[in-house]
Amino acid sequence: MNEFYNKDIISIKDYSKDQLEKIFDYTEKIMNLDLPTRREICKGKTLSYLFYEPSTRTRLSFESAMASIGGNSLGISDISSSSTQKGESLADTVKIMSIYSDVVILRHPLDGSSRFASEVSSKPIINAGSGTEEHPTQAIQDLFTIKKEKKKIDGLKIGIIGDLKYGRTVYSLLAGLGNYDVDVHLISPKPLQIRSDSIYEIRKKLTFTESTDLEEYIEDLDVVYVTRIQKERFPDEEEYLKVKGSYVIGLDMQKKMKEDSIILHPLPRLDEISIDVDKTKNAKYFEQAENGKYTRAALLGLILNENGF
Ligand code: NCD
Repeated sequence: MNEFYNKDIISIKDYSKDQLEKIFDYTEKIMNLDLPTRREICKGKTLSYLFYEPSTRTRLSFESAMASIGGNSLGISDISSSSTQKGESLADTVKIMSIYSDVVILRHPLDGSSRFASEVSSKPIINAGSGTEEHPTQAIQDLFTIKKEKKKIDGLKIGIIGDLKYGRTVYSLLAGLGNYDVDVHLISPKPLQIRSDSIYEIRKKLTFTESTDLEEYIEDLDVVYVTRIQKERFPDEEEYLKVKGSYVIGLDMQKKMKEDSIILHPLPRLDEISIDVDKTKNAKYFEQAENGKYTRAALLGLILNENGF
């Protein structure tokens, strides 16, 4: 039996380096399969999605991934049109989704929401973003992109820039990177530094520096991972306005980077990467978004097939 079969994906912390590498191998495999064979992988299977927060890439890449491997998707992307509006609980909604499908993709504003959902669901839950806590499938796609572009992860210098306080992709990425031998530099405005209580465990596996000065590191980095300032998670808009636009990767910054370094961003971007950087060879964020379709197809194929594919 394949070890991912019928399992939830709640936290990236549940994955070893071996398991991550296996997922990357299956992703490569899916990318190289001819379309008719690919469409057999989840034929007749149904994915459901339940999104309590906005999404473009995560939901659509799951849908697109499921279609590419022959499965169907159904779900709720606008909670105001569901029975949540009538007061139905998360537990009951998840129970119903798990009756109508083989796997449930959940995004919710509360930390712990996916773990809770997995306790009431009769089908595997995939965490598509839980509060400021985690976004494990984004980290899998980020790590896969780093490996694909740089041909390795070990030995790299990785800068993570922007909103390290509220950005959940950062916590999942750091936990994933804890499996590798990397130099991490965290760069953020002071009020948006990493939440030290949330990286208590990660600290044991990963060494990193913290700084407010991007210029100090930019020339040395192999990977420049930029994040959006998470306006919606600030308790006070005044606080957001103080840090808005703190770091902008424009052509001036891009010119300082190593020729073969890559710029990643989970997207959506606002003003933190200017659009004229898109055409440079360092910009890999759209490739990263595309890779999300294949890493998710691999995950679905593994979760839904006892013997893998
Ligand atoms: C991220 C998220 O929802 O955490 N989006 C995504 O899934 N690619 C990042 C963000 O919203 O800034």
